[in-house]
Amino acid sequence: MDHLVSPSLLAADFGNLEKDIRMVNSSQADWLHLDIMDGVFVPNISFGFPVLEYVSKISEKPLDVHLMIVDPDRYLNRFRDTGAAVLTVQYEACIHLQKTVTEIKDLGMKAGVALNPHTPVSHLKNILCDLDMVLIMTVNPGFGGQKFIMESYKKIEELREMIDSGGHDVLIEVDGGIDTGNAAKLIKSGVNVLVAGNSVFSSSDPAVTIQRLKNLS
Ligand code: DX5
Ligand code: ZN
Repeated sequence: MDHLVSPSLLAADFGNLEKDIRMVNSSQADWLHLDIMDGVFVPNISFGFPVLEYVSKISEKPLDVHLMIVDPDRYLNRFRDTGAAVLTVQYEACIHLQKTVTEIKDLGMKAGVALNPHTPVSHLKNILCDLDMVLIMTVNPGFGGQKFIMESYKKIEELREMIDSGGHDVLIEVDGGIDTGNAAKLIKSGVNVLVAGNSVFSSSDPAVTIQRLKNLS
């Protein structure tokens, strides 16, 4: 399949979100990535349900919601109700991960699990069959604009091998420090979904940058 592009709204202009969401609507982006941070799991607070509701009303792209929060189980149905199409929880924040993932799918969303840079992909071996997506964090979560961690390539290749050899239907998403310079190599390593924040929204023409990420040669 062709890879997907999911611009991260965290790097957008929060003084005029509507403009940036409409830009994404009319771009070649496949999804819109939304980062929910609670100030506990990560040392930063982003935005919550009121903002998400507003984004959901304007966005024409499926919402790819990335939860960097402790105890996500408390809010799964609220994220469904506010329009999440894909809901990703952090592996490190879930004690009963299989239960959480099953509940996300029962609520009608696609279920993703994100791995921090220090968490080995082998930890997902016994749950891969239950997942729709694995998000490999290519920076430590919490902030946009960080430097891509090079060790991530090995993790991606290892995960691609686990998915293919097991015959699983699971997408690999990457998030953190993704730009037009490393995207092609990531796709070659087995990535299906590129999240990009600053490289899109801080570029001179964000729609063109999305187009470049989508049409990598
Ligand atoms: C980081 C977030 C990312 C962030 C990526 O914790 O999960 O989605 O927005 O931003 P860039 O692409 O600027 O590294
Ligand atoms: Zn994210």
